[in-house]
Amino acid sequence: MAKTIFVLNGPNLNLLGSREPGIYGRETLIQIAARAEARAKALGFKLDFRQSNSEAELIGWVHAAREEADGLIVNAGAYTHTSIALLDALRAVALPVIEVHLSNIFAREDFRHRSYVAPAAQGVISGFGGQSYELAVDAMARLLGGKSKTKIKKNKK
Ligand code: DQA
Repeated sequence: MAKTIFVLNGPNLNLLGSREPGIYGRETLIQIAARAEARAKALGFKLDFRQSNSEAELIGWVHAAREEADGLIVNAGAYTHTSIALLDALRAVALPVIEVHLSNIFAREDFRHRSYVAPAAQGVISGFGGQSYELAVDAMARLLGGKSKTKIKKNKK
């Protein structure tokens, strides 16, 4: 059976497409999910893509991941910079975590430079727009040991 990766999205990410397009682009979260899902399928994984504006709901999904997922990709939105509760939840779950952001949070305001998700994550992908999610799926597939897309060509002599 294909391994499942939860992709959890925090507050205001449901507004992508119309929200500050100069920063976040014009792609909707549904379009981003479709691209990430296609990538996951090609690598032999199943994505469970979710969004909530509620910190409590996000934490509940992290807890559920213990039983239902093999890895977590998390864009916690602004909770990235505020939520010790989310950090504790991610630490309580013994699963690989990858933090993603559409924008490069380190090139923005100082308050975005601090992430409470990062200490619980294997790594952070930030600044590639919707593509950040596909890159995170690639990285997670490697962490979970999925099918490799890389074909090594042998030199014929
Ligand atoms: C974001 C960056 C956060 O600072 C911000 O609060 C968001 C989106 C991103 O994906 O670039 O809501 O997580």
